[in-house]
Amino acid sequence: MSIGTEKTESPIHLRKEELINLGSFYTSDEYVEIVWNFIRPLINSNTVVFDPACGYGAFLKEKTIAKKIGNDIDKKAIEKAKLITGDVIYFNYNALTVLSRETYGIKDSDRLIIIGNPPYNDTTSQAKKRVKRLQFQVEEKLKTRDIGISFLRLFYYLKADYVCILHPLSYLIKRANFRLLKPFNENYILKDGVIISSRVFKKTSKSSEFPIIIALYEKNRTGMDYEYIRNYKFKTIEGKVFRLSDYDYIGNYINKYPRKSETIRERDLLFYTLRDINALKRNRTFLHKPTSNAVRINPDQLDFYVYVDVFKDFINVVPYYFGNMDILINLELFKKYRKYFISYALKKWEFLSKHYQNQNCYDNDIIYIKQYFKELLKEHYVEDSGS
Ligand SMILES: C[S@@+](CC[C@H](N)C(=O)[O-])C[C@H]1O[C@@H](n2cnc3c(N)ncnc32)[C@H](O)[C@@H]1O
Repeated sequence: MSIGTEKTESPIHLRKEELINLGSFYTSDEYVEIVWNFIRPLINSNTVVFDPACGYGAFLKEKTIAKKIGNDIDKKAIEKAKLITGDVIYFNYNALTVLSRETYGIKDSDRLIIIGNPPYNDTTSQAKKRVKRLQFQVEEKLKTRDIGISFLRLFYYLKADYVCILHPLSYLIKRANFRLLKPFNENYILKDGVIISSRVFKKTSKSSEFPIIIALYEKNRTGMDYEYIRNYKFKTIEGKVFRLSDYDYIGNYINKYPRKSETIRERDLLFYTLRDINALKRNRTFLHKPTSNAVRINPDQLDFYVYVDVFKDFINVVPYYFGNMDILINLELFKKYRKYFISYALKKWEFLSKHYQNQNCYDNDIIYIKQYFKELLKEHYVEDSGS
């Protein structure tokens, strides 16, 4: 299936700031259909299908024996949804303040399936800081820095039997986010999912593209721990499959973040904080002046920082679905190709020459570096990247 060409259903009644604040990027039928394919086998005459942030009701158009409920904080969206979908009961609440089924007329005995594409909006994010102000209250129990994570927590309090929604993959694969999902992750398990690119929602540039998962969760007494996610076989819409545990990461070899206790001296080599592959796309690598984001380089580990610097220049060979992962490395392979990485970096950074005095430079280093990435990424290597 090709992605990136579908029309995005945009709310026509919102100004740009409102659109960003409410996370109102509507979902096209192609992805709605994936959700319904997951949930159709789970529906019986006792089922309620509920989209708590339904916009124009894209997810509620399906004909089904289930009772359908929609809700949105945006009154105008609900008015429009009523015109588009017939047999749906609508509410106009701030979903992050309603923690009971009762308010929506859902009985304890109903099999509740929550669907949709709730908003995601990292309230601490640096980008778009001026427009990203929260416009609504969030119940204390649900509060975190990202309202998308708050929505997942909400589903635990609504005692959903199944949850099938679109959300950033980073909620699962970044440990810090995964911790914030509690108590959702302690009571639900990821049963199935397909990864798509955020580019289908926003006309974003390639550099700010990130992976979104259409995920099916089932209520489960043991829940899931991070090991479960590490070993989970993620599928992408392009038909690729990967596990986090298939790879080794740079964080196993170097400090990714500045250490509070450490003082930086004049002669220290410095490197920018390393968050994930997408952050590396945007950020600098070697630094010449201390900043609050500067990590002190242990000279014994300089090879690894050279590795990251070169990785950045070849980042287009890495697929979008690895965007929120730490920088991948295969140590054995890197040892084999090391001299080409060093050669490439020496041509770029004059200051490195005193650290690599006996190192040759090679004309064909780029060819070998690409070969490294082909062997590292195998079927995930992105051809035709232009780097
Ligand atoms: C990504 S859109 C999805 C809409 C629809 N489900 C779709 O995919 O076409 C997110 C929706 O969440 C709504 N929303 C944002 N914050 C909300 C809140 N606190 N309570 C209820 N709805 C909210 C927005 O108004 C917007 O319609």
